[in-house]
Amino acid sequence: MDEAHRILFNEQAIEQRVTELASDISRDYAGKDVVAICILKGALVFFTDLVRCFSFPVAIDFIKASSYGSGTVSSRNLVISKDISTDIQGRHVLLIDTIIDTGETMACLYKRFSEQGPASLAIVGLLDKKPRRTAEVPIRYKGFEIPDLFVVGYGMDIGEQYRNLPYIAVLDGDR
Ligand code: IMP
Ligand code: MG
Repeated sequence: MDEAHRILFNEQAIEQRVTELASDISRDYAGKDVVAICILKGALVFFTDLVRCFSFPVAIDFIKASSYGSGTVSSRNLVISKDISTDIQGRHVLLIDTIIDTGETMACLYKRFSEQGPASLAIVGLLDKKPRRTAEVPIRYKGFEIPDLFVVGYGMDIGEQYRNLPYIAVLDGDR
C-alpha cells in the first residue's frame, strides 16, 4: 500500500472477533436450516472467514446491490446487479456485510428479504460506523463500533483498491 495509513484492526484482532461472532452464531443457529447471504463485493473476505468458523451446515448465496436517492428507505431505489438464486422462504437467513455506514443499503435489503418470508432474518456486521447512521438497521451480531473514519482492507476498498489487505486500515488524510 503506497499511501500513508494506520492499522485500526490487525489480522489477529480480526481473527479473534470473527471467531467470537461465529461461535455466538453457531450457538444460536445449531439445528436450523440456515442461508448466509454475502453482500458483494465488500463482504467477501469477512464472509468467507466467518462461514468457515460456523459449526453447523449452511447454504450460501450472494447479492450485489446499491441504494440511491434521498429520504426514507421506502422512497430509495435499490439497484440489484446480482441477486440470490436461493428460495429463502421458511429458512433462517443471515445477511452479512463488513461495514454498515449510513445503513441505507442494508435497510433496503432487510426490507426486501423480509418480504420473501424467511423464518428469521438477522444482520451480521463486522464494523458499525454508528455516527453516520441515517437508516435504522437492527444489527444482531456486531464486531466493532468505529468512529466516522474511512477504512480499507479486509474486503473494503477505495476506488476498488486495497480489498486484499489482510488488515483494516485508515487512510491518512481521510475524514
Ligand atoms: P451504507 O448504505 O451507507 O451503509 O453503505 C454501506 C456500503 O458502503 C458498505 O457496504 C461499503 O461497501 C461502503 N462503505 C461504507 N463505509 C466505508 C468505508 O469506510 N470504507 C470502505 N467502504 C465503505
Ligand atoms: Mg466501495
